[in-house]
Amino acid sequence: MADEIEVCPASELTPEVVVGAGPWAVGNADGELFAVSRRCRHLYADLAGGTIDNDGCLTCPWHGAKYDVKTGRMVLGPQGVFARIPGFGAALKMMTRVLPLRRRQVVLRDEVIYIQ
Ligand code: FES
Repeated sequence: MADEIEVCPASELTPEVVVGAGPWAVGNADGELFAVSRRCRHLYADLAGGTIDNDGCLTCPWHGAKYDVKTGRMVLGPQGVFARIPGFGAALKMMTRVLPLRRRQVVLRDEVIYIQ
């Protein structure tokens, strides 16, 4: 397909792994493959370096904001010093209700993962 992006062999995207493919962070949240835009809505950390928590949320590697990969919305604001700023996390969460991480469909074909 013309605008598909090849990600990696399916065997490499094991549960809880997140990789980068072009502008996308692609992961396996407990068997559910996802692709979301790669830059955190806080300070633009590369979400391809993130992790997946026990609830299947993508966690930013810099300040620990968490995203629901099904909606692209932030469900927990940045942690550390940012968590002490009144209303800051709530404002970011509200922003991602309007501007969630972009999402793309992930397909598995011939044991290779692609983003469509
Ligand atoms: S850059 Fe992602 S939480 Fe700060």
